[in-house]
Amino acid sequence: MPVTDLKLLIAAAQAAGDVARQYTGPSAKVWDKPEGAGPVTEADLAVNRVLEDTLRAARPNYGWLSEESEDDGARLTRERVFIVDPIDGTRSFIEGSKTWAHSIALVEQGKVVAGVIYLPMRDKLYAAARGMGATLNSTPLKVGASNRLNGASMLAAKPNFDGKHWRAGEHPGLVRSFRPSLAYRMALVAEGRFDAMMTLRGAWEWDIAAGALILTEAGAAISDRDGESLVFNNQAPKLPGVLAANPVLHGELRETLKPGAVI
Ligand code: IPD
Ligand code: CA
Ligand code: CA
Repeated sequence: MPVTDLKLLIAAAQAAGDVARQYTGPSAKVWDKPEGAGPVTEADLAVNRVLEDTLRAARPNYGWLSEESEDDGARLTRERVFIVDPIDGTRSFIEGSKTWAHSIALVEQGKVVAGVIYLPMRDKLYAAARGMGATLNSTPLKVGASNRLNGASMLAAKPNFDGKHWRAGEHPGLVRSFRPSLAYRMALVAEGRFDAMMTLRGAWEWDIAAGALILTEAGAAISDRDGESLVFNNQAPKLPGVLAANPVLHGELRETLKPGAVI
């Protein structure tokens, strides 16, 4: 039942925030993960522990996929799976910035049915349950109404704007901004603060699962970089990019990008 599960996700996100706030990024222990997977801190692991304890104790039959847990593949046999990024925006956390988020989703047979993105230092809690809309701190969310790419605000990393990705050899007059958490970039589009977001790079499921539902429930269209629907809990939990905007802008974005554009 999505509403009950969403309440659980919200409670877990708040518990995660309480733990994360006990650390200050610049003084937390930090080390590099193997294979160039980037930095991780003791706070990422502490948040992962509280999320796993809270969520798995409440729903022992659900599977588990987290950026900071070893993946033994057991989730592939479960009907429902938690997909979690304990801290999205770890580099920002380490720098002492407030722009990082807990990203928590529940997936049922490949579809996200509940999702929460919580920025504890900014007091912003985005939440959605399938078919029941999306909210920010309990206020309903709606994606922006802009229908022209020229002048549209786009959250994306700089390499996405390289001319080689666009049919016309240049991007169509988009105005680029960036925030250091991919989950937050998705939430900001759901909120209508930006018109669109995109990443042509492969995206880990834990970065985008919660955001995908929050966007859809706010009225956005979302796909991978080739326009395909996002399906979660894959054996290799990485999807080929993300494009999201209102349905008109999303359609235009797809037509304007070169097929097969990838960073
Ligand atoms: C990263 C952030 C960043 C995005 C990277 C992610 P992490 O996640 O979301 O904004 O551009 O692709 O890996 O490592 O901070 O959890
Ligand atoms: Ca992440
Ligand atoms: Ca992370």
